Amino acid sequence: MFQAPSGTCKLSVGTDHVPGTKWHSHRKMITPTFHFKILENFQEVFVEKSEIMLKKLRPNAHGRVFDIYPFITRCALDIICETAMGTQLNAQEDMDSEYVNAVYDISEATINRALSPWLHPDFIFQRTKMGRRYQECIQQLHRFTNKVIQEKKSLLAGATRVTDQSSDEDTSIGKKKRRAFLDLLLEASLQEGGLSDEEIREEVDTFMFEGHDTTAAGISWTIFLLGIHPEIQVRVQRELDEIFQGVSRAATMQDVQEMKYLEQVIKESLRLYPSVPFIQRHLNQDIKLDQFNPDNFRLENVQARHPYAYIPFSAGPRNCIGQKFALQEEKTILSYLFRHYSVRCLDKMEDVVTLAELVLRPENGIRVVLTPRDKASLHTL
Ligand code: HEM
Repeated sequence: MFQAPSGTCKLSVGTDHVPGTKWHSHRKMITPTFHFKILENFQEVFVEKSEIMLKKLRPNAHGRVFDIYPFITRCALDIICETAMGTQLNAQEDMDSEYVNAVYDISEATINRALSPWLHPDFIFQRTKMGRRYQECIQQLHRFTNKVIQEKKSLLAGATRVTDQSSDEDTSIGKKKRRAFLDLLLEASLQEGGLSDEEIREEVDTFMFEGHDTTAAGISWTIFLLGIHPEIQVRVQRELDEIFQGVSRAATMQDVQEMKYLEQVIKESLRLYPSVPFIQRHLNQDIKLDQFNPDNFRLENVQARHPYAYIPFSAGPRNCIGQKFALQEEKTILSYLFRHYSVRCLDKMEDVVTLAELVLRPENGIRVVLTPRDKASLHTL
């Protein structure tokens, strides 16, 4: 998605610099980890983290204006850490997590460096305060990921030694066992020609970066657009009410699949505010950017369109491997929010300043007012 400006980046934040043969064999190995069955397994994580997010939002749901963006980012971080590494980050509970701060500082340094050509040479960058902090953060991330890999490896070795005593308990987190990307990569690495520890760490770190900022931005822009289009928000909430029948229960994979209109809304939000703003194409004719209209993604309209006319996840063999994961996560988190709250955004589209950094984000966050929902508020919006 994004390549750090110079070859020293030991953390595989982007993928462009990975040579074709290495990329191809890794992609082949990773593709099965995004299988439908695996994603079904992750639904439980999406739900658990969405529920924590709701709990954290509750103190703000009293008519005051606040920025919802950091709440969404921390929820997405918790989700990616547990699904990619199978370990709990608790970014929503622990506001001082060194790991989370390192993730933010790396993103910030990467973009600042990209925009400052004089910092591109390593020998200069490494001598700056930002460069030293960047290296420190990279080391911190590597230590964390390496530790998790080593723990998982010894668990896996134990499990293969005592296959007949296999249990549903993962002793490292004391919870019902969920298989993370890392578990699947480690299993694949046992086969001949599998990935080395360093390559596994690179893949996991790539997931950590590609897999949370992007969805957090997508969710936040969707909240913004629904917050300024109350009539569309009501349609989303009606769909959710039909699916859940007013019962407060966990969203299942089946529920997520039934959120057809919400999916149209998410796709339309990604059209207007693509999380990844930098896929470059040359246009042969001018295009007119029009209004927020989720009907653009009604089945009949999609079928009538060229498949490459809309590519927020890019297209071709190097497209986004996580797009189904992303949609499932976005739908789950958004369904939790809009089942419980009506959202109002005070800013207008023309007033929101967009920053095209690693992902497209709003300069001043997404300022919202939440109102707890009941049937009456649904119809008075
Ligand atoms: C709204 C959410 C997301 C958007 C808009 C998005 C977008 C993209 C785009 C445009 C690319 C290709 C960039 C290029 O052509 O160079 C890409 C690649 C990638 N994405 Fe995503 N992404 C999202 C979420 C995710 C998630 C949740 C994951 C992982 C869990 C993920 C993992 C990856 C990986 C590993 C690649 C590199 C694929 C390869 O080179 O083979 N993405 N993403």
